[in-house]
Amino acid sequence: MKIYQIDSSARKEGSTSRALAKKLLDKIKKPGDEIIYRDLDDEMLFVSGLTESGMKIDKKVQTEAHKKMFELSDKLVNELKESDIIIISAPIYNYGPPATLKAWSDLAARVGETFKFKADGRREGLLKNKEAYLVITSGGTKLNSSEDFLTPWLKFILNFFGIEKVEIISADQMALNYEKSVKNAENQIENLFKD
Ligand SMILES: Cc1cc2nc3c(=O)[nH]c(=O)nc-3n(C[C@H](O)[C@H](O)[C@H](O)COP(=O)(O)O)c2cc1C
Repeated sequence: MKIYQIDSSARKEGSTSRALAKKLLDKIKKPGDEIIYRDLDDEMLFVSGLTESGMKIDKKVQTEAHKKMFELSDKLVNELKESDIIIISAPIYNYGPPATLKAWSDLAARVGETFKFKADGRREGLLKNKEAYLVITSGGTKLNSSEDFLTPWLKFILNFFGIEKVEIISADQMALNYEKSVKNAENQIENLFKD
């Protein structure tokens, strides 16, 4: 099995979402599994400089910046395509995803690779038979409340890519009671694999 772990906290040290995702990975991985790791805080680009409405630019007119963007986009798409299990850790930033995670989704959404248009114009996800685990943390925002635009959005994006099995582990409202919130998330991780 290939497990793809994506961290997005802007904090490398002392990040709870990263630590919980690591715990989850240790729980999921079996001998022989391959781990693909991506830290969105290390390398990210925004989709920019497009010349038409879709996410494409004719190779002949691509600038160096365009080339870099497509190179990273291709890498992210391939990482997703070759994975069986995807773990994404994400803190809520200003009620939504970290900007790096939004940028990741913009680069990962590619026609003919992660989704396609059907004859009736509707979209269909192309990443089948994969499962995802989301590790969401927050300071004060309650998970899935009307202020949480991260969790429903991220679930929707993964569904859009065709990934329908999405489990959520959360340490929300950590500012209210850090220990309780983290313990709760650790219990959620334990319970996922209890049989
Ligand atoms: C730029 C920024 C914006 C934040 N916005 C929110 C927010 O809207 N709601 C919330 O509950 N917490 C917010 N927080 C707190 C983080 O969600 C919380 O500290 C985070 O989940 C910690 O994750 P980490 O330990 O993995 O970095 C924000 C933190 C930062 C740095």
